[in-house]
Amino acid sequence: MAHDGSKTLQPARIVVLASGTGSLFAALLEASAAENYPGRVVGLVVDRACLAESVAEDAGVEVRRVDPREKPDRACWDEDLTRAVAELRPDVVVCAGFMRVLAKPFVDRFPEQIVNSHPALLPSFPGAHAVRDALKHGVRVTGTTVHVVDHGVDTGPILAQEAVPVFATDTEETLHERIKEVERRLLPQTVAGFISGVVAPAHRKEQDR
Ligand code: GRF
Repeated sequence: MAHDGSKTLQPARIVVLASGTGSLFAALLEASAAENYPGRVVGLVVDRACLAESVAEDAGVEVRRVDPREKPDRACWDEDLTRAVAELRPDVVVCAGFMRVLAKPFVDRFPEQIVNSHPALLPSFPGAHAVRDALKHGVRVTGTTVHVVDHGVDTGPILAQEAVPVFATDTEETLHERIKEVERRLLPQTVAGFISGVVAPAHRKEQDR
């Protein structure tokens, strides 16, 4: 919860970034509708036409699309994305299937405020093809990680992880769907803990502190 001037506890303002079907976004919306959830979703920002937009529209959540194909260059997209999110005045920014790397100025604009859900047990299999890469590697267990976003690709401090077994019969689709079932529970739960301060990055090496 965030404090306002009168010391009344206000739910934290959550802005979600997504590019896909929006099933994680929908799970976050559903969880945050509970009376005791410490945040509420105030906006969705997408980088392309996607199903997540209709999820937001159905729920009456403000949607902004910042499509890099409509911008002259990457720097201009970064700037417009930062502005679109900043205008929604987030306390927390949640990447729920946002398929682009956030640039340094964006990350610096929302320090320690951006949380990402990744479909693998980091630091294994970072990047856009985590499920495919895990299958290719032949791991018997993979999973999901919720972490704070830093300047690297899926390198930020870990908040929560949960394992998912890999079956011999799995395809990328079946495995990803089983991972997403976990993400739909773990992400809203971890975001709530992060907002309330009960979930924080795990113990890190002495030199990192
Ligand atoms: C999730 O697995 C997320 O970790 C990954 O993209 C997927 C998003 O799923 N980056 P959905 O679009 O919310 O269904």
